[in-house]
Amino acid sequence: MFRLSAGVLTVALICALGIAGAASSPNEQLPAGAMQEKASAACLTCHEARIILQQRLGKPAWTREMDKMVKWGAVVDPQDRDALIDYFSANFGPDQPAYVATKSSGAPVMKSRSKPKH
Ligand code: HEC
Repeated sequence: MFRLSAGVLTVALICALGIAGAASSPNEQLPAGAMQEKASAACLTCHEARIILQQRLGKPAWTREMDKMVKWGAVVDPQDRDALIDYFSANFGPDQPAYVATKSSGAPVMKSRSKPKH
């Protein structure tokens, strides 16, 4: 008998949330490069780019990450797998400067702390 695992349901749910999140912060993109287009198509359907941009992983870790995402449903042409791993390793390896989080959508943050101007 076929039973949907809780894991699959969780991924589906988080993906739905991810799409909403991606729509609200369109500024963060995967870096330019030969694989940008394919990576965007394969990797930004479930979550925004930020979750990738903030990683600093070596190649073995990116390999595991890729294979995990494919297992979770990312559509990656097997021919592109190695190139994508190289692309992510080169751009988001341990030698890269730390990720600096950007504020979302330019909206004022911490409004409650600013003093009224009158
Ligand atoms: C089928 C949906 C789906 C696709 C497609 C997908 N991911 Fe994910 N990814 C997830 C989920 C779910 C999480 C966990 C989300 C969270 O923690 O908020 C995640 C998390 C991540 C993380 C954070 C570390 C981790 O393992 O939790 C990285 C890095 C990542 N994804 C990279 C990628 C890359 C690279 C691709 C393209 C090859 C990709 N994802 C495509 C569903 C997906």
